[in-house]
Order: sequence, then C-alpha cells, then structure tokens
Amino acid sequence: MDKTTGSNSTTTDAAFSPIEWRDGGLYLLDQTLLPAEETWIHCSTPEIVADAIRRLAVRGAPAIGVSAAYGLVVGLQSVKRDEDLDRRFREVYDLLMGTRPTAVNLRWALDLGKELFEANRSRGAKATREVLLEWAKGVHSDDIESCRQIGAHSVALFQEGDRVLTHCNAGALATGGYGTAVGVITSGFDHGKVAKVWVDETRPLLQGARLTAWELGRLGIPYQVITDSSAGALMSRGMVDRIVVGSDRIAANGDVANKIGTYTVAVLAARHNIPFYVAAPLSTIDPHTATGDAIPIEERDPTEVTRIAGVELSPNSGMAHNIAFDVTPNELVAAIITEVGVLRAPYVESIREALAQAG
Ligand code: MRU
Repeated sequence: MDKTTGSNSTTTDAAFSPIEWRDGGLYLLDQTLLPAEETWIHCSTPEIVADAIRRLAVRGAPAIGVSAAYGLVVGLQSVKRDEDLDRRFREVYDLLMGTRPTAVNLRWALDLGKELFEANRSRGAKATREVLLEWAKGVHSDDIESCRQIGAHSVALFQEGDRVLTHCNAGALATGGYGTAVGVITSGFDHGKVAKVWVDETRPLLQGARLTAWELGRLGIPYQVITDSSAGALMSRGMVDRIVVGSDRIAANGDVANKIGTYTVAVLAARHNIPFYVAAPLSTIDPHTATGDAIPIEERDPTEVTRIAGVELSPNSGMAHNIAFDVTPNELVAAIITEVGVLRAPYVESIREALAQAG
C-alpha cells in the first residue's frame, strides 16, 4: 500500500460510472456508504430514485441529471394503459423535480425528457418508454464524453509538478463517469502535469474525505486530505499551485454555485494569486438565471452538521445552520472549463457564445 495515495492501484480506472442501466433496470451506487461499502441500489420505482437523490446516495449535479433522466423511464414502467400515460408522466416529473433545488442539471434533464415525451406520447406507453430510455442512455454517454472533453481542454492550463487543491467531489461519482474537476486532475496527471492533490474534507458530509479520496486512490493519483480550514495556511506557505472545482449551477454572468466552502477557497486563492478554475459541462450553465443572487440555495437538515457518521457531537442536536452551497462571484474565477473549450471573462459573452456554438 502506498501511504501517499492510500491505494495499491496504479492504473487509471476512468471507465467507472456510479449509474448503471442493466437487466432492464436502474442501479445507483449508494454514495452514503462509501468508502466503507460498495452497495448498489436497485431503483424499481421513481420514489426510490427520488429518495436516492434527496439523501445524496446519488449526488453531484451531472449525476443527478443522468439519474433523473433514467428516473423518468423507471416511472413509466408501471403504465399499463395508454390513457394513464400523461398523468403518470406529470407525477414522476414533479416528484423528481422536487428533490434538490440547486443543481440545474436536474431541471435541464427533466425538461429535455418532457419535450421528448410530448413529441412521442401519441405513440403509446411502450413506444414512448423506449424512446425515453434511448434518450436517457444518450444523456449518460454524452455526459461522460463531455467530461473527457473538459479534461482534454484543461491540459494546457497546468504545468509539470502542479499541486492542485479541490473541494467536495466532482469526480466520476458526481457525473455519468470520469468527472469534471477530478476529470481535469486525471487528465493533468496522465499528461505528467499534476503531481499531487490536496483534498478538502468538505464538511458537513465529507464528500472530499470519503469520495474524492476514494476515487483518487482508485486512480493512483497522489493525494492528501486536509481539513477545510487548512486551505488558507497551505496557500500562504506556497503549497498550492492551482485550484479546480465543479459546479451545481453557473449563472449567465459566470457566477458559480458549488458546495459550501467553495467561495472561501476562491477568496483565499485571490489573496494568494492562485488560479481558481471551475470545470463543468454546458448542462450546468443556466442561461435563465442572470446572476448568482438568483440561484436557489438548498438548506439541509441541521443534524448533518451536528452529527458525523450518525454520532451526535454537539450538546444541542440540530442547533445548526446548514446551507449546502455558496456562490463564487465571477471575478474570482480564472476560467470555466467546458466541453467546448476554456471560457474566460467577460463571462456574459463567452458563455453566450459557448451555448450558441453548442446549439
Ligand atoms: O451536495 P452534493 O454532494 O450533490 O454537491 C456536489 C457538488 O457541490 C459538486 O461540486 C458539483 O455538483 C459538481 S459535480 C461534477
């Protein structure tokens, strides 16, 4: 076992996806149990998919979008009579849409699915379900391809020996596969540029310590987990060369919503002149939200803060404020790395052009 990587793996395991459609059904890797246990949830009803999204068994904006796309198909599996199709679709669409508010990939996927449903519903339940399944598989494979493109476009931004800090988990687990920020790191590592990763543990739910560490270990990429509050000290000692994070929603002006604590990292990066990059597919950009102020920010159960792994640590259970995301203003973002290229300020223009180019 290599003590630096915490792993005995040296190969790049980039084909991994936390979402699988097999034997006619949807399976999601339960991320709440990682890294201790690798358990897959068979999602036989849309309620199970919705519950998995709500309790973060599947999480990360692109992975939520892909799961919701398959969730529409799962929801239509119980429809026996064509006359029940419309009512059931509306029910399932509303159920999934109500799961998490910040990650815009959820709405992006459900609205695309709705358009397709409306164009095909007259063909009956079975045919509509088949069309939606092929589409959901396409959403899944396109997301993996976008992540690979993001990785490819990012290589030129890195230099040999870079020590990269990341926050939360924006890896294969958070996407269809390969990852956004972790995809960028993987690509940089494969090109001999990224030497080491600082992994913010990411309180309260420890997506960094549990999930990013698990992924980097599998990939054989050297890393060390740090407490969130260590990031500034490492930067002030010259131990961080670059920062890359994912996003849950990017407003039309380039303001970036991401896991709580990202804004703090961005402010520290500006203080220390360290490039702060955001890696995200175009499906994470919300052209209908003008600025970060308008992004809905999810508030979660306060006991996620007062408990760790189910153990109550505070004298007053649940006496906590638990906002799950924050917004980093665009002026702190050195570049947004997308599947169509690297976007720079002014973001209103570069984002508009990128979206137009993608159609
Ligand atoms: O609450 P989570 O775990 O769903 O939050 C995830 C993040 O904030 C990720 O950084 C973001 O979704 C990008 S994933 C490629």
